Amino acid sequence: MNKNVLVTGSGSGIGQSIAIRLAKEGHNIILNGRTQNKLLETNKILEKYKVRTIIKSGDISKSNFVEQLIAEIRDEWEYLHVVINNAGISGKPSHIINISEEEFQTIIDINFKGTWLVSKFAAKIMKRQRKLNPLRGKLINISSIAGREPMPMEGIYSASKAAVISLTKGLAKELAPDITANVVCPGYHITPMYQDDPQLIKNYWNSINMIPALNKVGTAEDVANVVSFLVSEDSNYITGQVIGVCGGVII
Ligand SMILES: NC(=O)c1ccc[n+]([C@@H]2O[C@H](COP(=O)([O-])OP(=O)(O)OC[C@H]3O[C@@H](n4cnc5c(N)ncnc54)[C@H](O)[C@@H]3O)[C@@H](O)[C@H]2O)c1
Repeated sequence: MNKNVLVTGSGSGIGQSIAIRLAKEGHNIILNGRTQNKLLETNKILEKYKVRTIIKSGDISKSNFVEQLIAEIRDEWEYLHVVINNAGISGKPSHIINISEEEFQTIIDINFKGTWLVSKFAAKIMKRQRKLNPLRGKLINISSIAGREPMPMEGIYSASKAAVISLTKGLAKELAPDITANVVCPGYHITPMYQDDPQLIKNYWNSINMIPALNKVGTAEDVANVVSFLVSEDSNYITGQVIGVCGGVII
């Protein structure tokens, strides 16, 4: 069954790949990100799949924007079935004791608060619509291996992603049985976050000695494959789970 899916941060990288994969499967996509031009590019790619799409650019760390975003989706599309909380930033590499308060706040606001805000407003309408629509709501949050094992020079990013894992487990407990919530932890994937450069990624994993057992750089599609399963009805008995897509960096 075709679902209405909000994908945050879908102008590039993993978010774009998720939007493409889900559109290919016939789902309708609400594209969100901060940069309108990048969302237009994703939207252009989705045209060939003949699904409904809509662009809602804006900053998911701002509650006014998120409340309005979810209200507009309800008014314009009636139902919101799935949210992929993918938008995130890594910040500049820095020791925890050297990071500025401003940088700390920005990382926490986007990665943690943003995921909470979108989940909060989306879950309210998912709960209400459940009485009218048989589809269970699904929250799928993108954390990181750094949320399971802190990465050197990425301490605050790691903490923000650990918070996303805890938040997702809390959502799963509180929102069952109407809504499931699961969290996906990517490892190293070729996206703009790593300057689309596999060698840079390999240098990085050697330097911090966090090497995937499969000894291979991942793609954005590796994450989209797993998200596609979580969106599908095949995953209906799964909630509150942390799913690593990292080639075995963490085992
Ligand atoms: N690339 C990797 O190897 C990797 C590894 C682990 C986790 N992740 C996570 O995957 C997610 C996607 O990362 P990516 O690698 O595709 O990076 P990316 O930089 O290509 O994508 C992130 C997207 O989020 C958007 N975004 C950032 N702040 C936003 C905000 N406040 N409001 C709305 N949109 C915002 C950006 O515009 C961008 O399009 C992130 O949450 C990231 O932490 C990525």
